[in-house]
Amino acid sequence: MSKMGASIPPPHRCFNMRNPLAKALVLFITISLFGSLLLQQSGDLDVKAALLKTASSAKQAVSSQRPLGSYHQQAGWGGDSVHTPVEMTGHQPDHPNNLANISTHGNMHCDYDMDRLKHWKEKYKLQDRFEYTRRYIQVSRQPIARKSMTVLDQDFLFDHVKVVDVNKHYQPEACPAPLVVPVPKSPYPSTANASDFMFGVSTTYKRFVDPKTNPTNEWKYWLTDNNGSSNGGKLLLMLMGASDTEMADVHSQLTAVGIDADVYRSSPSDEMAVRYLTLVPTLYNHHLRPQKKWLVTCDDDTFFPSLHALIAKFEEYDHTKPKYIGTFSEDSNNVMRHGEQAFGGAGVFLSVPLAALVTKHFSSCRTPEKIKEANTGWGPQGDVLLRKCIYENSPVRLTLLDSLWQLDMLGDPSGFYESGIQPLSLHHYRGGGWHSALPFHYTKVSHLCGEGCMMQRFLTADDFVIANGFSVAYYPEGTGEIDWDQLERTFRSAPDDKGWNLDFKWGPQRQGLAKSGRKLSWDLQEAEIIWEDGEAADGEGAGGGEREEETVQDDITEVKQSKGGKRRRVKEVRQIYVRKHDDWRWKLADGATAMSKFDGVVELVWLPDLTDAE
Ligand SMILES: *[C@@H]1O[C@H](CO)[C@@H](O)[C@H](O)[C@H]1NC(C)=O
Ligand SMILES: *[C@@H]1O[C@H](CO)[C@@H](O)[C@H](O)[C@H]1NC(C)=O
Ligand SMILES: *[C@@H]1O[C@H](CO)[C@@H](O)[C@H](O)[C@H]1NC(C)=O
Repeated sequence: MSKMGASIPPPHRCFNMRNPLAKALVLFITISLFGSLLLQQSGDLDVKAALLKTASSAKQAVSSQRPLGSYHQQAGWGGDSVHTPVEMTGHQPDHPNNLANISTHGNMHCDYDMDRLKHWKEKYKLQDRFEYTRRYIQVSRQPIARKSMTVLDQDFLFDHVKVVDVNKHYQPEACPAPLVVPVPKSPYPSTANASDFMFGVSTTYKRFVDPKTNPTNEWKYWLTDNNGSSNGGKLLLMLMGASDTEMADVHSQLTAVGIDADVYRSSPSDEMAVRYLTLVPTLYNHHLRPQKKWLVTCDDDTFFPSLHALIAKFEEYDHTKPKYIGTFSEDSNNVMRHGEQAFGGAGVFLSVPLAALVTKHFSSCRTPEKIKEANTGWGPQGDVLLRKCIYENSPVRLTLLDSLWQLDMLGDPSGFYESGIQPLSLHHYRGGGWHSALPFHYTKVSHLCGEGCMMQRFLTADDFVIANGFSVAYYPEGTGEIDWDQLERTFRSAPDDKGWNLDFKWGPQRQGLAKSGRKLSWDLQEAEIIWEDGEAADGEGAGGGEREEETVQDDITEVKQSKGGKRRRVKEVRQIYVRKHDDWRWKLADGATAMSKFDGVVELVWLPDLTDAE
């Protein structure tokens, strides 16, 4: 594929001990650590006690005036007291299905299912004792515009954060009233009709079968109704040098989950850039092309989280004209290096007339001379080859669609995923030098609240921000001074990072809060959909990816099955957010002292809006 920057060195190399700045920083951290150890020996306890005293009044204070650390301790972090749930006496079973129904809100259970907690301990390598908070969230679908940040008047915590010991058993508790979050009535992912689109992807069998890179779950999200049938979107998959058996294997894995795919073999002797360009005539020459409006090339790690919004956007463009639609890299260095073309990972959308033009000129666009010209110093680039083919043979130029994302960023991607935007595409989320993210899990909640609510943000009265699907973050010093319209600079650009080269798409970013004592976040690791029809398994697909224990719920909720709406209904979505006590980011301002000595799990359980008749 046209991998812009596929040859970028791994990010770790830009920070090594040969760098004098790094050396100075390590020295500084060492000194600070030593200093804070000394402090702990002496008057530290008194300081903590004094801070605790002010805690009760702190909550009423304007957030920016909050005494340092006080609210943080009141909530149960950093102080000396550890709050635990009440232990079971005797040997009662603690499985949720055996519990008395103590909740005041229908299906809510605020118990301690030690089997699940033990499972997370193993899976996420947590301590034996860790913080566990379960919170129910009731969605309220309303005829409102999508808000980037919705301010709630409810608290996230209703009590102290509690520490559980996986070797103990605890009494169930009464659930507090759920957080009620207003969201727009955005359509559900499974009802999208993508029949105007045909997608072309080039990859290898090896990448397809590797559980770390297998795209089946992601493709199932944006190419099917999530119930075993295609959503009308067609996929042409090119596998480099694959055998007949391998092609049949891939085809059957995709078909099994409802993806309408044709699998092709591409020649390993072609340049990668040429294999990429070949997608265009392959799409154009397909027998379904007369029924399509848009032929799309993308990478095997391109993800479309909001298909209805994407389709609506493309209805604004005239598909009968030659159109070349996509986006630049967020990194101006990459635009300077490679040029002003659509960067392939974000998705490149060609109208059929433009694909006809590229197909017509295909042989002259892939000559050795053109391949050489497409080498920007990092090897021949497929995106450049396509751009040259279009620009040199027509007056057509790129139409920029800014809500597509190439995501040429490195490191902690939180600033982007916590920005409150609704992206039309995501890319580069499989680590390996770029960032790591789990869009397949992030979008599970969209089946419950609509595609617009993923990455929507909710700020609670006690300064927690839920960036739905991605993180739950706590701002112990308050949020009054944070400009939520600006991205937090948590990530960095590939070298050379000039400090501003990511600004032209994102604007200048606000300062990162890592190691400031002002932010503590739990990141989503997995989510699970409990369907109304009783099947808990949301069909993780044959292809691997994250494996989850699926629990079957026997409870039956009365839901008025609204007439024709041919959507599988969701009973609840559970999101598991995890924070490790030694996460390098969540340190006090000394840069070394952990904000919490415990690992933590926050479980959000989303409840659907049963009053919404669609
Ligand atoms: C559980 O609570 C719900 C809601 O109050 C109620 O309708 C239901 O009957 C209760 N179930 C049991 C077993 O007590
Ligand atoms: C999508 O819409 C087309 C008409 O534009 C229709 O023929 C087709 O059946 C629809 N497909 C799905 C999966 O709903
Ligand atoms: C989901 O698929 C099953 C099996 O094909 C079918 O019986 C059911 O009607 C489908 N549900 C929806 C909501 O489309």
